[in-house]
Amino acid sequence: NRRKVAVIVGSLRKDSINRQLARALERLGEDRLEFDYLQIGNLPLYNQDFDGDYPPECTAFKQQVRGADAVLFVTPEYNRSVPGVLKNAIDIGSRPYGDSAFAGLPAAVTGASPGAIGTALAQQHLRNVLSYLDMAVLPQPEAFIQFKEGLVADDGRITSPDTREFLEDFVDRFVAWIDRQRGEA
Ligand code: FNR
Repeated sequence: NRRKVAVIVGSLRKDSINRQLARALERLGEDRLEFDYLQIGNLPLYNQDFDGDYPPECTAFKQQVRGADAVLFVTPEYNRSVPGVLKNAIDIGSRPYGDSAFAGLPAAVTGASPGAIGTALAQQHLRNVLSYLDMAVLPQPEAFIQFKEGLVADDGRITSPDTREFLEDFVDRFVAWIDRQRGEA
Protein backbone atom coordinates (compact mmCIF):
# COMPACT_ATOMS: atom_id res chain seq x y z
CA ASN A 1 0.00 0.00 0.00
CA ARG A 2 1.94 3.00 -1.24
CA ARG A 3 1.40 6.44 0.25
CA LYS A 4 0.25 9.07 -2.22
CA VAL A 5 2.47 12.15 -2.30
CA ALA A 6 1.45 15.37 -4.03
CA VAL A 7 4.69 16.78 -5.43
CA ILE A 8 5.00 20.51 -6.01
CA VAL A 9 8.09 21.58 -7.94
CA GLY A 10 8.74 25.30 -7.61
CA SER A 11 10.17 25.67 -11.12
CA LEU A 12 8.39 25.78 -14.47
CA ARG A 13 11.62 25.35 -16.44
CA LYS A 14 11.77 22.37 -18.80
CA ASP A 15 15.24 21.27 -17.70
CA SER A 16 14.70 22.17 -14.05
CA ILE A 17 17.27 20.67 -11.70
CA ASN A 18 14.56 20.62 -9.05
CA ARG A 19 12.36 18.49 -11.28
CA GLN A 20 15.35 16.17 -11.73
CA LEU A 21 15.76 16.01 -7.96
CA ALA A 22 12.06 15.19 -7.55
CA ARG A 23 12.41 12.42 -10.12
CA ALA A 24 15.40 11.00 -8.22
CA LEU A 25 13.41 10.99 -4.97
CA GLU A 26 10.52 9.32 -6.77
CA ARG A 27 12.83 6.55 -7.87
CA LEU A 28 14.31 6.08 -4.38
CA GLY A 29 10.85 5.80 -2.85
CA GLU A 30 8.93 4.08 -5.61
CA ASP A 31 8.24 0.92 -3.60
CA ARG A 32 6.58 2.97 -0.81
CA LEU A 33 5.46 6.25 -2.36
CA GLU A 34 3.36 7.16 -5.38
CA PHE A 35 4.23 10.61 -6.74
CA ASP A 36 1.50 12.83 -8.18
CA TYR A 37 3.12 15.88 -9.80
CA LEU A 38 0.86 18.91 -9.45
CA GLN A 39 0.84 21.51 -12.21
CA ILE A 40 1.21 25.04 -10.86
CA GLY A 41 2.08 26.94 -14.06
CA ASN A 42 -1.53 26.96 -15.25
CA LEU A 43 -2.93 28.51 -12.08
CA PRO A 44 -4.07 32.14 -12.25
CA LEU A 45 -2.43 34.77 -10.06
CA TYR A 46 -4.28 34.64 -6.78
CA ASN A 47 -6.86 37.38 -6.33
CA GLN A 48 -8.95 37.65 -3.20
CA ASP A 49 -11.99 38.24 -5.39
CA PHE A 50 -11.74 34.50 -6.12
CA ASP A 51 -12.84 33.63 -2.61
CA GLY A 52 -16.55 34.10 -3.28
CA ASP A 53 -16.47 31.97 -6.45
CA TYR A 54 -13.30 29.90 -6.69
CA PRO A 55 -11.97 29.30 -10.25
CA PRO A 56 -12.31 25.65 -11.33
CA GLU A 57 -8.54 25.15 -11.91
CA CYS A 58 -7.90 26.35 -8.36
CA THR A 59 -10.52 24.01 -6.93
CA ALA A 60 -9.02 21.14 -8.96
CA PHE A 61 -5.58 21.94 -7.55
CA LYS A 62 -6.96 21.87 -4.00
CA GLN A 63 -8.65 18.54 -4.66
CA GLN A 64 -5.36 17.04 -5.81
CA VAL A 65 -3.70 18.22 -2.60
CA ARG A 66 -6.53 16.82 -0.49
CA GLY A 67 -6.32 13.48 -2.27
CA ALA A 68 -2.74 12.98 -1.08
CA ASP A 69 -1.32 11.55 2.16
CA ALA A 70 1.48 14.13 2.15
CA VAL A 71 2.99 16.97 0.13
CA LEU A 72 6.59 17.16 -1.05
CA PHE A 73 7.95 20.59 -1.99
CA VAL A 74 11.03 20.61 -4.22
CA THR A 75 11.97 24.19 -4.88
CA PRO A 76 14.63 26.45 -6.32
CA GLU A 77 15.71 29.53 -4.42
CA TYR A 78 14.94 32.82 -6.15
CA ASN A 79 16.54 35.87 -4.59
CA ARG A 80 16.89 34.10 -1.25
CA SER A 81 13.25 33.05 -1.10
CA VAL A 82 10.76 30.81 -2.90
CA PRO A 83 9.80 31.54 -6.51
CA GLY A 84 6.62 33.57 -6.86
CA VAL A 85 4.98 30.78 -8.82
CA LEU A 86 5.28 28.46 -5.80
CA LYS A 87 4.01 31.07 -3.35
CA ASN A 88 1.08 31.69 -5.67
CA ALA A 89 0.16 27.99 -5.68
CA ILE A 90 0.37 27.89 -1.88
CA ASP A 91 -1.81 30.98 -1.57
CA ILE A 92 -4.38 29.43 -3.89
CA GLY A 93 -4.40 26.15 -1.98
CA SER A 94 -4.81 27.96 1.32
CA ARG A 95 -7.99 29.91 0.52
CA PRO A 96 -10.85 30.76 0.99
CA TYR A 97 -10.13 31.37 4.66
CA GLY A 98 -11.02 28.30 6.70
CA ASP A 99 -10.97 26.01 3.66
CA SER A 100 -7.23 25.42 3.20
CA ALA A 101 -6.29 22.21 1.39
CA PHE A 102 -2.99 22.00 3.28
CA ALA A 103 -4.14 21.99 6.91
CA GLY A 104 -3.08 18.92 8.84
CA LEU A 105 -1.12 17.25 6.03
CA PRO A 106 2.43 16.01 6.55
CA ALA A 107 5.03 17.62 4.30
CA ALA A 108 8.70 17.60 3.43
CA VAL A 109 10.87 20.28 1.88
CA THR A 110 13.97 20.08 -0.28
CA GLY A 111 15.57 21.91 -3.15
CA ALA A 112 18.56 22.14 -5.45
CA SER A 113 20.81 24.96 -6.56
CA PRO A 114 24.14 25.19 -8.36
CA GLY A 115 25.35 27.21 -5.35
CA ALA A 116 26.77 25.68 -2.17
CA ILE A 117 24.24 27.17 0.27
CA GLY A 118 21.56 27.47 -2.37
CA THR A 119 17.94 26.88 -1.32
CA ALA A 120 18.68 26.99 2.43
CA LEU A 121 17.06 30.40 2.78
CA ALA A 122 14.20 29.55 0.44
CA GLN A 123 13.52 26.37 2.40
CA GLN A 124 13.58 28.25 5.68
CA HIS A 125 11.06 30.78 4.36
CA LEU A 126 8.92 27.94 3.06
CA ARG A 127 8.93 26.16 6.43
CA ASN A 128 7.61 29.34 8.01
CA VAL A 129 4.71 29.47 5.58
CA LEU A 130 3.89 25.76 5.89
CA SER A 131 3.93 25.90 9.70
CA TYR A 132 1.46 28.74 9.56
CA LEU A 133 -0.72 26.59 7.30
CA ASP A 134 -0.72 23.87 9.98
CA MET A 135 1.31 21.38 7.99
CA ALA A 136 3.52 18.92 9.86
CA VAL A 137 6.84 19.52 8.11
CA LEU A 138 9.56 16.85 8.44
CA PRO A 139 12.11 18.58 10.73
CA GLN A 140 15.21 16.57 9.73
CA PRO A 141 17.12 15.95 7.62
CA GLU A 142 17.38 19.36 6.04
CA ALA A 143 18.22 18.68 2.40
CA PHE A 144 19.98 21.55 0.63
CA ILE A 145 21.23 19.90 -2.53
CA GLN A 146 24.10 21.42 -4.46
CA PHE A 147 23.44 20.33 -8.00
CA LYS A 148 26.33 19.52 -10.30
CA GLU A 149 25.83 18.60 -13.96
CA GLY A 150 25.04 14.88 -14.24
CA LEU A 151 24.03 14.39 -10.59
CA VAL A 152 20.80 12.76 -11.74
CA ALA A 153 20.89 10.43 -14.75
CA ASP A 154 18.06 10.43 -17.30
CA ASP A 155 16.44 7.48 -15.56
CA GLY A 156 16.41 9.27 -12.19
CA ARG A 157 19.40 7.43 -10.77
CA ILE A 158 21.68 9.51 -8.53
CA THR A 159 25.26 9.25 -9.73
CA SER A 160 27.00 10.43 -6.53
CA PRO A 161 27.09 7.66 -3.87
CA ASP A 162 27.20 10.19 -1.01
CA THR A 163 24.20 12.14 -2.27
CA ARG A 164 22.32 8.91 -2.99
CA GLU A 165 22.89 7.68 0.56
CA PHE A 166 21.86 11.04 1.98
CA LEU A 167 18.66 11.16 -0.07
CA GLU A 168 17.83 7.53 0.73
CA ASP A 169 17.82 8.56 4.37
CA PHE A 170 15.67 11.59 3.52
CA VAL A 171 13.10 9.35 1.82
CA ASP A 172 13.16 6.77 4.65
CA ARG A 173 12.57 9.50 7.20
CA PHE A 174 9.79 11.04 5.11
CA VAL A 175 8.01 7.67 4.83
CA ALA A 176 8.29 7.13 8.61
CA TRP A 177 7.06 10.70 9.16
CA ILE A 178 3.98 10.15 6.99
CA ASP A 179 3.20 6.89 8.83
CA ARG A 180 3.52 8.67 12.15
CA GLN A 181 1.31 11.61 11.15
CA ARG A 182 -1.32 9.59 9.32
CA GLY A 183 -1.31 6.42 11.42
CA GLU A 184 0.26 3.21 10.14
CA ALA A 185 -0.89 2.22 6.64
C1 FNR B 1 18.24 32.32 -9.19
N1 FNR B 1 19.20 31.43 -8.68
C2 FNR B 1 19.50 31.46 -7.32
N2 FNR B 1 20.23 30.45 -6.73
C3 FNR B 1 20.46 30.44 -5.40
O1 FNR B 1 21.10 29.53 -4.89
N3 FNR B 1 19.99 31.47 -4.61
C4 FNR B 1 19.27 32.50 -5.12
O2 FNR B 1 18.84 33.38 -4.37
C5 FNR B 1 19.01 32.53 -6.52
N4 FNR B 1 18.26 33.52 -7.09
C6 FNR B 1 17.78 33.38 -8.37
C7 FNR B 1 16.81 34.27 -8.86
C8 FNR B 1 16.26 34.07 -10.11
C9 FNR B 1 15.16 35.00 -10.58
C10 FNR B 1 16.72 33.01 -10.92
C11 FNR B 1 16.11 32.78 -12.29
C12 FNR B 1 17.69 32.15 -10.47
C13 FNR B 1 19.78 30.38 -9.54
C14 FNR B 1 18.99 29.11 -9.47
O3 FNR B 1 19.44 28.33 -8.37
C15 FNR B 1 19.15 28.29 -10.76
O4 FNR B 1 18.67 29.05 -11.86
C16 FNR B 1 18.44 26.95 -10.70
O5 FNR B 1 18.78 26.19 -11.85
C17 FNR B 1 16.93 27.12 -10.65
O6 FNR B 1 16.30 25.88 -10.41
P1 FNR B 1 15.58 25.06 -11.60
O7 FNR B 1 14.68 25.97 -12.35
O8 FNR B 1 16.69 24.52 -12.48
O9 FNR B 1 14.87 23.96 -10.88
